[in-house]
Amino acid sequence: MLISAELNKAFNEQIGRELLASHQYINIASYFDGRALKKLAAMFFKQSEEEREHAMKFVQYLNDVGGKVEVPAVGAPKSDFQSAEEAVRLALQWELDVTKHINDLMTMANEQKDYAAREFLDWFVKEQIEEVSTMQDLLQIVQQVGEHYLIMVEAYLSHGGE
Ligand SMILES: [Fe+2]
Ligand SMILES: [Fe+2]
Repeated sequence: MLISAELNKAFNEQIGRELLASHQYINIASYFDGRALKKLAAMFFKQSEEEREHAMKFVQYLNDVGGKVEVPAVGAPKSDFQSAEEAVRLALQWELDVTKHINDLMTMANEQKDYAAREFLDWFVKEQIEEVSTMQDLLQIVQQVGEHYLIMVEAYLSHGGE
């Protein structure tokens, strides 16, 4: 086994967070779909798939190093939103929290001189920069156009903005 019990446990907790993010984004995507904002919906469905892929990267890594995969209980994500801004703000807050957790995992890997885990986590460090920036941009756009003109966000997303 090429991973400590402590890091193994922390990785399993991260699998839970990635899956919760995946589920949260299904709810956000569906909220947008319910408002006929198909591009925003598509963007969050895609994000949902990516979060599942993130969870699976941790699963694969644990299996590769002979660790034990234990998918934890995942709570219910939020499903009621008063506005697009509230939904996007939740996504941004989530990405910021995940970034903090990835950094904590990196700290743990460093302390344990687990260089394989460090290299594995490097990918997530970079990915989080992109994820946070995407959500920050989207939040700004949504705030600037306002709730009644979200159709303009759809146009923005159609032209490759994200
Ligand atoms: Fe993720
Ligand atoms: Fe993410």
